[in-house]
Amino acid sequence: MIQNERLRQLMARGNAFLGSEVAIMCGAMSWVSERNLVAAMSNAGGFGLIACGAMTPELLDAEIAGTKALTDKPFGVNLITMHPQLTDLIAVCARHQVGHIVLAGGLPPPGSLDAIKASGAKLICFAPALSLAKKLIRSGVDALVIEGMEAGGHIGPVSTSVLAQEILPEVAEQLPVFVAGGIGRGEAIAGYLEMGAAGVQLGTRFVCATESIAHPNFKKAFIRASARDAVASVQVDSRLPVIPVRALKNSGTELFTAKQREVAALLDGGSVEMAEAQLQIEHYWAGALRRAVIDGDVEHGSLMAGQSVGMVKREEPVAEIIATLMDEAAEALSRRAA
Ligand SMILES: Cc1cc2nc3c(=O)[nH]c(=O)nc-3n(C[C@H](O)[C@H](O)[C@H](O)COP(=O)(O)O)c2cc1C
Repeated sequence: MIQNERLRQLMARGNAFLGSEVAIMCGAMSWVSERNLVAAMSNAGGFGLIACGAMTPELLDAEIAGTKALTDKPFGVNLITMHPQLTDLIAVCARHQVGHIVLAGGLPPPGSLDAIKASGAKLICFAPALSLAKKLIRSGVDALVIEGMEAGGHIGPVSTSVLAQEILPEVAEQLPVFVAGGIGRGEAIAGYLEMGAAGVQLGTRFVCATESIAHPNFKKAFIRASARDAVASVQVDSRLPVIPVRALKNSGTELFTAKQREVAALLDGGSVEMAEAQLQIEHYWAGALRRAVIDGDVEHGSLMAGQSVGMVKREEPVAEIIATLMDEAAEALSRRAA
């Protein structure tokens, strides 16, 4: 599938790891990354990931089965570490012999790493810093994603370009590393591959795929937006640490401020503990994202989007998005070789 020899070589390791034809993962996006987008991504030669989010084990079971009905290509499942039924969700993946599990939202909780390994799945974790990358490698993960603050959704404090420079030279020889956050064109993919990445993970660029079930209003908001519209949420109370979320600015941005005040008051009143307070914040995001992605309320819901949103110009099939990215990457590499 890959015509350009250099690009084929640079993606070979990522493809071998994923079982894909191009080493481009579509990052799991809650509500968006369900069977249709995931299957379309894998059918087009890339690698789709189901976003489990807050799904129950029964729902995840149905989603995996539904995805398998649409593709016979490999795909993975993204699980969130703070899910109260993580063990059951891993068991569901094991029953379906899911080949790749991504654990998002922190270091693997005790037992989860062994359970995933025992299921035969390859484990991919997010490394937000070099020290954590090294720790994850020691604990036996199979691959890493390094995601910068340009990304859509929950973000860390460091940019993709800095994470790539800090982490790739140190660990890329030891295991496959996928770079995520702010990637909208193939030239950037070529650059990160040349720095040692095994592949990349994109989210924002795939939201407006024809196969994505995101509401037309959600897609329209993406197509209209420019990079500067995708802003990080602000923490309003120092006692309540919230993970920043990057989303398009709308009335929902203010609703989140109000929600933080409400939860901070509950903390002050002693009616909730910190862990419960943070879980309430995460439930808020899940609900707000659903409101925008599924119901199309782009005013009050959450329009999680990365800064690469400015490079989303139209609705187009996943296969075309991948073809464009690959052409751009190949051209960039040919220019450099000339
Ligand atoms: C609408 C939306 C929802 C997301 N939901 C999740 C999620 O549930 N779990 C997760 O690990 N990452 C989530 N992400 C992050 C993506 O998986 C991916 O890593 C990120 O979009 C890559 O950066 P980019 O947006 O700049 O391409 C989400 C991103 C977006 C845009």
